[in-house]
Amino acid sequence: MKIGVLLSGSGSNLQAIIDAVKNNFLSVEIGLVVSDNPDAFGLKRAEKAGIRAQYIPPGPKRTVLSPEAEEKYITALKEAGCELVCLAGFMRVIKDKILTAFPGRVLNIHPSLLPSFPGLKAWKQALDYGVRFTGCTVHLVEKGVDTGPIILQAVVPVRPDDTPETLLSRIHQQEHIIYPAAIKLFAEGKLTISGRQVNVLNKNQKK
Ligand code: GRF
Repeated sequence: MKIGVLLSGSGSNLQAIIDAVKNNFLSVEIGLVVSDNPDAFGLKRAEKAGIRAQYIPPGPKRTVLSPEAEEKYITALKEAGCELVCLAGFMRVIKDKILTAFPGRVLNIHPSLLPSFPGLKAWKQALDYGVRFTGCTVHLVEKGVDTGPIILQAVVPVRPDDTPETLLSRIHQQEHIIYPAAIKLFAEGKLTISGRQVNVLNKNQKK
């Protein structure tokens, strides 16, 4: 299966996916990496790994792609043969056009245990709230922000001396494990989705 990755920044999750493919943990091909930020370090990571990488201007708004930009993203992903779209730190809300072009085929990673702390700086929200445990979530993307059916989660305990930076760094370590794992389950057809429930088939089960 070919996948496309959309990102806006550092791309450490992209790197985890690249490494998982290299190590033969994940049998997918990263067909295209697209960013809304020409300076995203993730674009450099892609180029270094020999993966096609492209900046596509997002349009004038800060939080969403313009309708014209959405079309361009879809065309680029389709032309590259991508069947699954993985958001990896893509800082824009995904709207109908992309969701319709890739129905049930857009994944996201979020740095909290959803449904707690959707939105921005989720690790800081968790720290400020005083929770004992937070973590990260891979979910299918639907219309709402950080609301889609949950595929995998990992728990990260909050330490009394945590700063936003130390907590985020431990959350990232877990993200780099569960995102490739979730993509693997998706690519191998091991997920069945019914409403909000995502079931993971075990080795011997067939869909
Ligand atoms: C991650 O924390 C992810 O959960 C969130 O954006 C961040 C991206 O980090 N959606 P990176 O660019 O993959 O390093």
